[in-house]
Amino acid sequence: MTHSPLLRSDQTLFRDPDVFELTFVPEHLHHRDAQVKELAFLISPALRGGSALSAILRGPPGTGKTTTVHRIFTMIREETQRIIPAYVNCRQDHTPLAVYGSIFKQVCGYAPPPTGWHLDDVKEGIVSRLRDRNAALVVCLDDADDLIVAGTYNPLLYQILRLYEKWDVRKAGVFAVTSDLDLNLGAEADSSVRSVFHPTEITFLPYTKAEVREILADRVRQGLYPRVLPKPLLDRIARFAAGEQDVRVGIDLVRQAAHRAEKDGRRRVTHADVTAAARAVTAPALRNRAAGLSAGERALARWIAERSRDGADMASGAVFEAAQEYLPVGKTAYHEHLNALAKAGIVDLVPRTGRGREVRLRYDAGDVAAACRSPDQTCKIPNGS
Ligand SMILES: Nc1ncnc2c1ncn2[C@@H]1O[C@H](COP(=O)(O)OP(=O)(O)O)[C@@H](O)[C@H]1O
Ligand SMILES: [Mg+2]
Repeated sequence: MTHSPLLRSDQTLFRDPDVFELTFVPEHLHHRDAQVKELAFLISPALRGGSALSAILRGPPGTGKTTTVHRIFTMIREETQRIIPAYVNCRQDHTPLAVYGSIFKQVCGYAPPPTGWHLDDVKEGIVSRLRDRNAALVVCLDDADDLIVAGTYNPLLYQILRLYEKWDVRKAGVFAVTSDLDLNLGAEADSSVRSVFHPTEITFLPYTKAEVREILADRVRQGLYPRVLPKPLLDRIARFAAGEQDVRVGIDLVRQAAHRAEKDGRRRVTHADVTAAARAVTAPALRNRAAGLSAGERALARWIAERSRDGADMASGAVFEAAQEYLPVGKTAYHEHLNALAKAGIVDLVPRTGRGREVRLRYDAGDVAAACRSPDQTCKIPNGS
């Protein structure tokens, strides 16, 4: 029987859709051996009856920080009773009670009663369990920047690290994690915390294109049926995700592109599927970036988009000369606007051989023009203020 290119309505392209969920913990953690080793080293004193050391994990979003911690914590749970790991998602839990509640649940195996307990009761519950099991505590405060916003970063660190003094248990290790590169979690610690918190900094650099490709190929093998995503398209997605410096963009693209093919009843993902999915994935980012621009910056962005679509010379100088005829900007304002667009991530200013720079759009010209329409036409992005 020949294999129909069309999918029956009860068929799917997804071998395992969960593989594309954000919470999925992959079996193979690629290219993070150094970080895993470093964390294992910091934890190792606790295996010998001592205390785990602390760390700050730092790197842009999507560089595998959360996944690496999950990997280490799973290894600990499988290998020893002497260390109890507790993973706290500070996006979700940022009050002291919520953070300790989360730790309690992981240390004791059940949630603290929803009412009637004070913070001290929760702490005592944690400590008595640690003492019973003669175990050391290792806490991961993931996305700890949310604790800083909530004003609970210093008090929580201080309490967790000093839990041992009052209660006669081993000192806890704390892994504080942030994706905000402007934030220095070490410097945010006040002097009382610094006297007990001596973290090793562990850096997570963005994955290269080849690394992104390998991670995505793995995911595709697990999540889609064979031959659903042709190799050149996987390459294209990897290139795109590497450009965005976020492997999650790639995972999302694979999922959305395969969904489009499936909805159309096709067995194969096409170029058009990837193009459409890429637009859907970048649209919110682009809109957010454009929302922060001034009217003059938007006008310049629209104009650059038009010029780039026409295939004109995109040397910065040539763009300025041509722009002068249409836009009321002098040279200084032009350069300021252009730098603002580069900073917002809408254009890249690429040095040219010889001299000068080339203005290159990061996104599709039509999408940039649409996102940078005059303010009364653009929808406002709610920002809670
Ligand atoms: N080295 C890796 N190997 C396999 N999958 C990875 C790797 N790094 C990241 N991922 C995947 O990319 C996504 C983002 O990773 P995550 O650990 O959440 O990044 P971060 O916490 O740094 O923002 C997750 O879906 C994760 O499974
Ligand atoms: Mg994370």
